[in-house]
Amino acid sequence: MATFAVTGSASGMGAATAALLTAEGHTVIGVDLRDAQVIADLSTPEGRAAAAERILELSGGALDGVAAVAGVGPDMPNAAGVMSINYFGVTALLEALRPALAASGAGRAVVIGSNSASTVPLVDDKLVELALSGDEAATREHADAAQAAMPAEITAIVPSIGAYASSKLAIARWVRRTAVTPEWAREGVTLNVIAPGAVLTPLMLGSTGKEEDLNADEFPTPMPLGIFGRPEDIAFWVHQFLKPEARYTTGAVLYVDGGTDAAMRTDAQ
Ligand code: NAI
Repeated sequence: MATFAVTGSASGMGAATAALLTAEGHTVIGVDLRDAQVIADLSTPEGRAAAAERILELSGGALDGVAAVAGVGPDMPNAAGVMSINYFGVTALLEALRPALAASGAGRAVVIGSNSASTVPLVDDKLVELALSGDEAATREHADAAQAAMPAEITAIVPSIGAYASSKLAIARWVRRTAVTPEWAREGVTLNVIAPGAVLTPLMLGSTGKEEDLNADEFPTPMPLGIFGRPEDIAFWVHQFLKPEARYTTGAVLYVDGGTDAAMRTDAQ
């Protein structure tokens, strides 16, 4: 049986992933702000370092896979916080855990991005560039300034939509750049992104309201399958990427979004 670390394990997609892996008999080291084996705040450098240290202790220094699922949505009031959690909370932790993934001989890392990276027109290129440069302080400063400059009619509904979409584009680019470096690829460690669309989790329902009041055909983005995703729909693909057999895919971005990205960017390939 294998050992996996799953961030965001207390809720939504992370909880569904942890449940799937646990049901198969694997050891799951859950990481979250609450209700997890490792309680840590991934929004800060100290929290990320403490999380990595504890995961390495609990795993004995070898991990078969990491699912970086923890994150926040565009309704978070603080744009800087969105960048710290959704981008730096993922990259710093994965960098710290890479040697443990390499130690297992066939490490697998999966990151949850979002189809907002490609379907939301409010991506801030400068913010993406700053995040990819690794300068968290400058990223946070720019995120807050850009949020303050955004029209109030947008921020009143989705306060951090620009930072959210930018954080998810930046993380997808980081994955594609990092996955092909020898430190990852030649150690047999794969690194991929799953980009969900609208998935019925506390994160989404917190901004959209009750599930029974939602209609996929009235959603702001096209929903070709006419349904919303469930946490299990994402956990299914996370699970596939975590398998030892998934050895020939790295740097991929898989849209698990009911067809939204294909409908909006049909000829992007
Ligand atoms: P959720 O709110 O149900 O679960 C997210 C988990 O991450 C929570 O347990 C939360 O405590 C944890 N978390 C948040 N900030 C943290 C921090 N600073 N340190 C440690 N843990 C922290 O949300 P959901 O929907 O399961 O989200 C999972 C991922 O999917 C996130 O990265 C989110 O941005 C992404 N996503 C969600 C979509 C949706 O429609 N639900 C769509 C596209 C992407």
